[in-house]
Amino acid sequence: SGVERLGDMIAEAKTIVPFTGAGISTECGIPDFRSPGGIWTRYRPIEFGEFVASQDARDESWRRRFAMEEIFAAARPGRGHRALASLYRAGKIPAVITQNIDNLHQASGFAAEHVIELHGNTTYARCIGCGQAYQLDWVKRRFIEDGAPNCTVCDEPVKTATISFGQMMPEEEMQRATALSRACDLFIAIGSSLVVWPAAGFPMMAKNAGARLVIINREPTEQDDIADLVIRHDIGETLGPFVGN
Ligand code: OAD
Ligand code: ZN
Repeated sequence: SGVERLGDMIAEAKTIVPFTGAGISTECGIPDFRSPGGIWTRYRPIEFGEFVASQDARDESWRRRFAMEEIFAAARPGRGHRALASLYRAGKIPAVITQNIDNLHQASGFAAEHVIELHGNTTYARCIGCGQAYQLDWVKRRFIEDGAPNCTVCDEPVKTATISFGQMMPEEEMQRATALSRACDLFIAIGSSLVVWPAAGFPMMAKNAGARLVIINREPTEQDDIADLVIRHDIGETLGPFVGN
């Protein structure tokens, strides 16, 4: 079966790089983007340019974030996160590349420097001008009084520490993800539709550099045809057997 083959491939691999999308966190209560009920079936994305240009867009962006507050605060790592953390502790995984912003890889036991966040992190905020970090509690207090706040250092808008459409990708993370994709012998894409670029370029990059490519996703993805193994099944059930100590 697919899971048995995955087990063999994991056993044979020296260096495994997982690449995760929103599908690994749906069992933790966090909706994905493109499934029925996903974020982009409910909202139109607020692009970076709109956030910069409009106080209304900033207010709406923070309203959306605070509407998800309890979901993010209550979320705990799922079986997929825990399986990857086990392989990390076993020395098989040097780092995880993620499109997710929910901090759950860190919560599962990955050191922060071993979580490469291509799209940032929504559990804190940053000034888009000077990069000053802010806690969400501070933003919330200011938001209630006065709407979406600006930086106390440079007066530019404060935004969740995530990457929006139209915003520059983080350079160091892109470089580290490139190096890891080229250096691994097994690359496992987990819970991503693989439609958002440049993030979606990493599975292909790993495959082209000689790694085996596995895709675990309950729906077909854009890159199934180049994969060595496609497991079109629930992530928690598929990776549950790999949760160890
Ligand atoms: P998507 O919502 O596009 O894809 C998630 C995939 O996970 C879907 O194909 C689902 O079928 C699958 N899935 C969900 N739950 C699953 C489960 N329990 N078991 C197996 N499969 C499951 O999310 P991403 O690919 O992560 O970026 O989205 C990529 C980027 O688009 C995000 O990082 C975000 C978004 O716009 C930005 O906003 C910049
Ligand atoms: Zn600032």
